Amino acid sequence: MRRPDARSVRRFQQRLLAWYRRHGRDLPWRRTRHPYRVLVSEIMLQQTQVERVVPKYREFLRRYPTVRRLAAADVDEVRRLWYPLGYNIRPVRLHAIARETLARYGGRLPEDERALRRLPGIGRYTAGAIRAFAYGRDAAVLDTNVRRVLGRVFLGPRRLARVRGERAWWDLAEALVPAGRAYDFNQALMDFGATWCTPRRPRCAPCPMRDACRSYPVPAPSANGARRAP
Ligand code: ADE
Repeated sequence: MRRPDARSVRRFQQRLLAWYRRHGRDLPWRRTRHPYRVLVSEIMLQQTQVERVVPKYREFLRRYPTVRRLAAADVDEVRRLWYPLGYNIRPVRLHAIARETLARYGGRLPEDERALRRLPGIGRYTAGAIRAFAYGRDAAVLDTNVRRVLGRVFLGPRRLARVRGERAWWDLAEALVPAGRAYDFNQALMDFGATWCTPRRPRCAPCPMRDACRSYPVPAPSANGARRAP
């Protein structure tokens, strides 16, 4: 995949950050930089919608406010509290992360990507989120929403069909992170993908990327769903 030129990158960064100032959501995990809290939110958000995560995130942190308290808890109890969120391997992994963080790092989540990814259930996405959101590092995040946004804006349907493999996506995501602004930029990308550049009915008409988007206008889905938006 060809890297976008510097001007397109800058334009995308500026427009996305401006969009976020107006439309970004006020979410509880955006009021903290605490690594443990960021971790809990990102593990919950891996498979669950924001609206369902918000109350459970609060409840979880009331019950287990620190790595130490979670590590000391009985794993079955942690699972019971988590249960309605589903994908119930996640609380088991989170509990294991807490124990390992305590045993190996004195209770502070590591900042280094390789160390983070050795923890159970932490892949490239979650490691990037922790590094950007808790430690202010210029790390990229790439999930389904981010991929859709980048694919639409920078590739368009024809080039999108030719992309093979994860590596090219991560290279693109990393090339876009503005130095020193990874926190807002990544949160913005997630909100933009979740609320604006949505899978089926993206808000193309008022979109700030419109004149620079390789997929504009994304075709509306037909009544029988035959034509899928890219
Ligand atoms: N999905 C994954 N991480 C998120 C975050 N920090 N904010 C909103 N949605 C997300």
